[in-house]
Amino acid sequence: MQPTPVPLDQVDLADLDVFEGNRAWGMFDTLRREAPVHWNEEHDGGSGFWSITRYDDIQAVDKDPESFTSMKFTNLEEPPEEFQDTRRSILETDGPRHQALRKLLMRDFSAAQLRRYEDFLRGLAKATVDNALQQEEFDFVDSIAADYPMAVLVRLLDTPPEKTPQLISWGNEIVGFSDPEYARVLVNSEEAKAYRHLPFSSPVSQEIYDYGRQLRAERLGGTADDLVSKLVNRIPEDGIPLSDQDFDNYFLLLVVAGNETTRQAMSHSMKALIDNPEQLTWFLEHPEKAQVAVEELIRWASPVYHFRRTATRDVELHGRQIKEGDKVVMWFASGNRDESKFADPYTLDLSRFPNDHITFGKGPHTCMGANLARLEIKILFETLLPRLESIEQAGEITRVRSNFVNGIKKFPVRVRAKQV
Ligand code: HEM
Repeated sequence: MQPTPVPLDQVDLADLDVFEGNRAWGMFDTLRREAPVHWNEEHDGGSGFWSITRYDDIQAVDKDPESFTSMKFTNLEEPPEEFQDTRRSILETDGPRHQALRKLLMRDFSAAQLRRYEDFLRGLAKATVDNALQQEEFDFVDSIAADYPMAVLVRLLDTPPEKTPQLISWGNEIVGFSDPEYARVLVNSEEAKAYRHLPFSSPVSQEIYDYGRQLRAERLGGTADDLVSKLVNRIPEDGIPLSDQDFDNYFLLLVVAGNETTRQAMSHSMKALIDNPEQLTWFLEHPEKAQVAVEELIRWASPVYHFRRTATRDVELHGRQIKEGDKVVMWFASGNRDESKFADPYTLDLSRFPNDHITFGKGPHTCMGANLARLEIKILFETLLPRLESIEQAGEITRVRSNFVNGIKKFPVRVRAKQV
């Protein structure tokens, strides 16, 4: 459905109410049309940012780390200079070191490598669906979307299954850093100042570090093929071993990056299929096109609203003067609704092809877990949809209070399962 248009003078992408109320889309449309490079003040002491909302411009910024660096951090928060190195993960590293750190695990996330997890994923999806369908009404997020990606990660990291609830709540707290329901300490609060040395200014980061260090000590020198063992025992191609901080932040990123994002992709996809029942039928009638369908679901979902860069020099773009040091925000979600790139962008069309969406970014930092996310989502819907006689929304959806993650917190559904 086309969003309600928002006049330019009412656009404010720093206002979290807008995102909690799912009203950002109308703002993105206005910006793409009228102000593709738009200055947005911040209300919490932040220095303000430029919003980049057109697909081609987002791609150009993402692909130009020389002019738009990640080294000054990639969320809106501006960590103090003295803590930037301790908090730095690959997300906030540019250049050859970034490439070397990325290559450490990149091949483990390739489609070919992931194929060996397919049977495991099918079993897990079936168990998740069997469990959820024991009830006629349940919360889609809690019963299906939250546990499944985390259980996958638990397998990849080879951590004990009883640790799963802990990992989920860590992930929630970190990615929901601006939502009072999730975060013990809100990212820009007074209290958070005591945690400025930690990622997301969150005390939870220390707990994740501690757990990672314990695993590291256990697996150092071993030959097991879980991701932690690989991270601990492989030497980056530049010959510089991982420092303690490199390891801490890599581990933390693995724990949080794929959890909430994949969950949101599934929740948004389910909502879209309920709202477009003819598309749900299309999915079932075209099992051979599941991969194509999943790309459209991922475009539609856009679970990550934005990542941020910082200008390293003065740049003029669409007549606006971006100054060295300015924050520049790539609104990936807006790029996915750019009408110059996608015909009828507000129409869910599972047969859309090609579908060069920008959900995972488009540059040197392109999501490392994209193939894993695709596979998880495909297998979940291939498992769930044929089991359903019907599915409908059974109550209000509530959203994460965040302009970073496009998140659904509560999504009640009512189902009739097929008799098997
Ligand atoms: C639907 C689910 C997912 C979405 C929407 C998503 C989105 C993103 C985005 C937008 C970026 C930054 C891209 C850029 O700056 O150009 C990113 C980076 C990253 N993602 Fe994902 N992600 C998802 C799932 C995963 C999973 C499952 C994992 C791994 C378990 C993962 C691991 C990473 C890592 C390690 C990076 C940093 C890459 C780098 O800096 O070089 N993501 N992701």
